[in-house]
Amino acid sequence: MDLQSRVTAEFTQRFGSPPSAIVRAPGRVNLIGEHTDYNDGFVLPMAIDRAIWIALRPRPDRIVTARSLDFDETAEFDLDRLEKQAGWVEYLKGVAWSLQDAGYTLHGFDAVVAGDVPIGAGLSSSAAWELAAARAFAVTSGFAWDAAKMALLGQRAENKWVGVNCGIMDQMISAAGKADHALLIDCRSLETQAVPLPPNTVVIVLDTATRRGLVDSAYNERRAQCEAVAKFFGVKALRDVTLDQLNEKHDQLDRVAYRRALHVIGENDRTWQAAEAMKRGEAVELGQLMQLSHMSLRDDFEVSSRELNIMVECAEHQAGCYGARMTGAGFGGCAVALVRQDAAAAFSAGVAAEYQAETGLQPNIYICTATNGAEVVARQ
Ligand code: GLA
Repeated sequence: MDLQSRVTAEFTQRFGSPPSAIVRAPGRVNLIGEHTDYNDGFVLPMAIDRAIWIALRPRPDRIVTARSLDFDETAEFDLDRLEKQAGWVEYLKGVAWSLQDAGYTLHGFDAVVAGDVPIGAGLSSSAAWELAAARAFAVTSGFAWDAAKMALLGQRAENKWVGVNCGIMDQMISAAGKADHALLIDCRSLETQAVPLPPNTVVIVLDTATRRGLVDSAYNERRAQCEAVAKFFGVKALRDVTLDQLNEKHDQLDRVAYRRALHVIGENDRTWQAAEAMKRGEAVELGQLMQLSHMSLRDDFEVSSRELNIMVECAEHQAGCYGARMTGAGFGGCAVALVRQDAAAAFSAGVAAEYQAETGLQPNIYICTATNGAEVVARQ
């Protein structure tokens, strides 16, 4: 049974009649533009066909009840008394807090939730949760959907309620994704431009089956290093520094700071070029840019890992692979590859076998299609 049918069936059984609406919000994979979002730069992610689904019905009061099929738990909270606790429901609660804090008037609802975005794999299960929650409140409380506004409020929930210092990419793509396209996002203006995947290609997510601790502290350290270089140049963010300007001041920056900035400035440029290549349908060029991105993340930004490097090398060996790179924050989690469509099955089998032989780990491999962002899929 698919997830839409499962949440519908469970809702009907639990609450005695069918849900009045079903919403979904997707996870994402980033094709290129890594560690650029918090530098006001450019990213090029796509929303994937793995999502959080919520079946719901408004209640007359201000209570939210949610049954999670994945955790086999029910949680309940009062919109007038939001308190931070731990667990999956904090995403829903955090978004309620963020929306109310921004002046939205919310109504309670009953809900059944299920998802198939792997948790902690770097495919943005948290952002999918937040945007599904925002969509659910938009439906039950009757306010209009503004993707960028909802992404910002989802990010605020993640930063201030859940306590993770992420940028805007994951929430933006989960809010605004477009089927069959990736989205070039300007993380300063939040303008988006949908670009199609090159013809006869597929995007394949390669999960290393490694999860790294200390990601948060390393992530925050990278952010601080980038901010320090922006401050050195007297600008708001690294987005405003050109490669020539950076190189002119090479001697005045410490070696690590220089390499961090070099990655960000180069990556912004690669992301632009990648979007242009996609518009022309150039898979080879896009693949090459992905490879350059991986090298820069590995050598200059230093957020890759042994397993991610092995995975990328295994991918690049295979016939029909245009390019591969680590994706997301790094240190573990997933790589992403652009592959010729008719080679996808052999590619997946080949990478899995080689990666397993080299690491002893069993990878998870997903051939992904690009989907729409958060949406109401059914309403009665
Ligand atoms: C995580 C964050 C994003 C972004 C990426 C790195 O996924 O949530 O905001 O910074 O890392 O590109």
